[in-house]
Amino acid sequence: MQQVNLGMIGGGTVGSGVFHAWQKNGGLMAARLGVQLVFRKIAVKAFDEPRPYPIARDLMTTDWQEVVNDPEIHIVIELVGGTGIAKTMVLAALAQGKTVVTANKALLSAHGPELFAAAAKSGVNLYYEASVCGGIPIIKSLREGFVGNRITALYGIVNGTCNYILSRMKFEGADFAAVLADAQKLGYAETPPDLDIDGHDAQHKTGILASLAHGFWVDHHQIHTEGIRDVSKIDMEFAAKLGYTIKLLGIVKQIQSAAANRAPQIQVSVYPALIPSAHVLANVNQVFNAVFVRGDVVGDTLFYGRGAGKDATASAVLSDVADAALDLKNGTKVRVPPFVAHVKKGRVAPLDEVTSQYYVRFSVVDKPGVLAKIAAIFAAAKIGISSVIQPEGHEGESVPLILMIHDAPNAAMRKALAKIAKLPVVKAKPVMFRVENLQ
Ligand SMILES: NC(=O)c1ccc[n+]([C@@H]2O[C@H](COP(=O)([O-])OP(=O)(O)OC[C@H]3O[C@@H](n4cnc5c(N)ncnc54)[C@H](OP(=O)(O)O)[C@@H]3O)[C@@H](O)[C@H]2O)c1
Repeated sequence: MQQVNLGMIGGGTVGSGVFHAWQKNGGLMAARLGVQLVFRKIAVKAFDEPRPYPIARDLMTTDWQEVVNDPEIHIVIELVGGTGIAKTMVLAALAQGKTVVTANKALLSAHGPELFAAAAKSGVNLYYEASVCGGIPIIKSLREGFVGNRITALYGIVNGTCNYILSRMKFEGADFAAVLADAQKLGYAETPPDLDIDGHDAQHKTGILASLAHGFWVDHHQIHTEGIRDVSKIDMEFAAKLGYTIKLLGIVKQIQSAAANRAPQIQVSVYPALIPSAHVLANVNQVFNAVFVRGDVVGDTLFYGRGAGKDATASAVLSDVADAALDLKNGTKVRVPPFVAHVKKGRVAPLDEVTSQYYVRFSVVDKPGVLAKIAAIFAAAKIGISSVIQPEGHEGESVPLILMIHDAPNAAMRKALAKIAKLPVVKAKPVMFRVENLQ
């Protein structure tokens, strides 16, 4: 049986998970692939760091260049993380003509085109299934499974930490701050938690998915991103009464048909949104991830699974290693290229140009005529109100007033809310979330 030699840089959470999974199922993979996968070297920073799973000491080195420069190693797996030394490692491995497998969404998000160009220059492949949604095979599905589709919409719950916090807020009626503190204690959220709860991690992943779905590279700076800090218990409760659940979504929507002879435009955003509680995506809870993909041929599809963790992520890394090994076995080093920029003038529309529906909560003084004042500002901006809820109960001097708003451009909505916020009858900054009906 042909042998393919592996080198890995990084033996932490994911790296040790990959080594463990290979020990467990390497024989099964060999039987399935007709290729024997053999680890030759694993680089770490320090030998004695505690690891979730042990790594054979005789395979370890503290010099990553030994992995990259070993002529016997065919595939280099980068599991260090970050955009610094990891970039140097990946570029060095590609320059040596080695296929690279990475789980590094931050690196891809920041330097994708440069890395793909380096891979193309060396005539080798770069695989990154584990960079988005851990164990869910969403990259392979977009590149191969849906190759015959235009992706008209994609909605992803792509950050397990945020989904865990929002799920607990919903089911326990708990406050954001209390759940976040508990999540940090339990190890479900980092300290500091900003990368997750401010939406940056979801932004990296959504950018990669948008690029694959639409055939031009979406720079992460173009992605309007809001995190979950402003989601409060009270909005969870009102959303539930209205039949909605609040989820942090990565959203990629075609907003102008690619067939219309004009440059395709897409919305690419990350924000907390109200989605119908009856929708399957609303029932993805705790740390689980899910990606809802709508293709113009296939229709609606849903992928569900663990988005992180040593084992789920290891599963994705091994899937890439298997593809890379088959490429080598079959002499087709780049059977499926890492990224094909096939759309020349694709455009990410600024959110201001995008039309959305909205949930808005105002804190207003409790006296007649308040709604009329707010409605007049919306009417002047040509924004239609679809329903009004004025629940019982005071918040000190003020009462909540909830409006559901018809389709309106984000710019118009932003300006109208800024005007309304200045009304003397409005006592706090209006709270606004977009509504995604997933239709
Ligand atoms: N954790 C997850 O659930 C998850 C999920 C999806 C994707 N990812 C991605 O997977 C990658 C790895 O994440 P992780 O959670 O496994 O990180 P980690 O636990 O911090 O592991 C990082 C590894 O890199 C090694 N390392 C750091 N600098 C090095 C250097 N200069 N030379 C050689 N080795 C070096 C560390 O060595 P020591 O062990 O000696 O410190 C450690 O083994 C990241 O890109 C991350 O975004 C992680």
